[in-house]
Amino acid sequence: MNILILGNGGREHAFAWKISQSKQCSKLFVAPGNAGTASVAENIPIAVDDFEKIGKFCVEQAINLVVVGPEAPLVKGIRDYFEQELTLKTILLVGPGKDGAQLEGSKDFSKQFMLRHDVPTAKAKTFGATEVNEAFQYLDACTPPIVLKADGLASGKGVIITPDIAEAKNTIREMLIDKKFGEASSKVLIEEFLSGIELSVFVLTDGKNYVILPEAKDYKRIGEGDTGPNTGGMGAISPVPFADDVFMKKVEDRVIKPTIAGLHKENINYKGFIFIGLMNCNGNPYVIEYNARMGDPETQAVLPRIKNDIVGLLVDAASGNLHGKKIEQTTDYAATVVMVSGGYPGDYPKGKVINGLEAKNPALVFHAGTKQTGQNTVTDGGRVLALTGSGANMGQAREKAYAGVAKLSWEGVYFRKDIGMDLMDKT
Ligand code: AMP
Ligand code: GLY
Repeated sequence: MNILILGNGGREHAFAWKISQSKQCSKLFVAPGNAGTASVAENIPIAVDDFEKIGKFCVEQAINLVVVGPEAPLVKGIRDYFEQELTLKTILLVGPGKDGAQLEGSKDFSKQFMLRHDVPTAKAKTFGATEVNEAFQYLDACTPPIVLKADGLASGKGVIITPDIAEAKNTIREMLIDKKFGEASSKVLIEEFLSGIELSVFVLTDGKNYVILPEAKDYKRIGEGDTGPNTGGMGAISPVPFADDVFMKKVEDRVIKPTIAGLHKENINYKGFIFIGLMNCNGNPYVIEYNARMGDPETQAVLPRIKNDIVGLLVDAASGNLHGKKIEQTTDYAATVVMVSGGYPGDYPKGKVINGLEAKNPALVFHAGTKQTGQNTVTDGGRVLALTGSGANMGQAREKAYAGVAKLSWEGVYFRKDIGMDLMDKT
C-alpha cells in the first residue's frame, strides 16, 4: 500500500524507518520530512496543516494510509477534513478527530474527562480571563510548589512550576490578561504538584480495542542531572525499569481501560495513538497529561523495540480491527540521545554542516532538524539528530548510543551525557 507520514522530526524519521521495513509498504512519502526521511522515503514539500494540498496529493498518489506525526494537524481537524471529503473518506488515517485531539489540545477538557471517568490525576481548578481575583484567592489557599498550565497548545512551554505564590500570581496575570500564549492561555489551570518519577505510556487504539506499546522515559531538561529549562526532549530510554508488571497492571486497570471506555462512552471515535504522561507516586500512577500522538524522542526508543510489522498495527487501528492484536517486543534496551544546536532551547544558529553522517554508525541515526543543501547535510532546527543504541541492558544500549554520538559533530553541538544513567543500577 501507499503510505504518507506527516511531520518532519525524529519521530517521523523513526516511523519512516520502521514502516519502510514492512512488506505491505509499496510507496512511502513524508510531508514535509527532513534529510533523514529522504533516505527511506520520498519527501513532499507540503506543510502538515495544509489539508487541501495533502488531500490532493493523497488522491493523485493513491495513498491508502496516512500517519499523522505531530499534534497540530490533529487538533486542527485533519481527520474531520478527510471524513468530509468524498474522495478522501476511504483513506485510512492514524490519529483522532478534533474531538479526541482535545485530550491534548485542551488541558481543561482532558482534566474534566479524567474526572468524569475516574482516571487518577492531580487536583486542579480552571480560571478564565474574568476570574483573576478568584484565581488569586484559590492560590492563597494552595501549598507550593504551584503548577500552572495554559489550557491550549503552547509548544511545550505552557506549564510553569514555581515555589513562590507571588510569582504564580504574576504568571497568572501574564497568561490571562497579557495573553502570554495567545488564545492558548485564555484559560489557566492551577494544579496540585505531584511528586514522583515520570514515565510515558503509549497506547494504540481503534476506539474500542487497544494495544500497549513499550513504555519509555523522557529526559526533558536541557542540563545533566535534570537541570535548566524544559526542552522537547533530550533523550529517552525504554524499557523503564520501575514500570514492572505490578505497576503496569495498575496503569492498565486504572488509566488505560477507563480512558478507552470513557472515549467510547462520549462517542469519541478515537483511532490513533494516546501518549499518557504519568507520574509514579509511591507505586501508583497519576496522569499528568494526554497527548494525541506519539512522543518525540520516545518513538525513537520505542519503535526499535517492536517486532511486529508496524503497518499491520496501524491499518488495524485505523480500520477498527485491533481486537486480539498483541505487541511483540524485544527484551533489548534502547537508549536515545538527542544532539541539539548550541543555544537550544533558546535561540540557535541553523545551517551548520553536520560531519560524520557517511560513516558506519553503531546506533540508529534518526534525523530531526536537518536539511540537505547540495552535498551537505546541515542543521535546520534545535533538535538535530536522535541516536538510538540497543543492547542487552541499559549500559550496553547507552554505550552504543554514545559511540554513535561520538562519530557525529557540527559547530556548537550539545547533548546530555547522562541519558539513562539514573536507571543504570536498576537494569
Ligand atoms: P506537560 O506539558 O503537561 O507535559 O507538563 C510538562 C512537565 O511539567 C511534565 O512533564 C512534568 O514534568 C511537569 N508537570 C506537569 N504537571 C505536573 C504536576 N501536576 N506535578 C508535578 N509536575 C508536573
Ligand atoms: N517528549 C515529549 C513529547 O513528545 O511531548
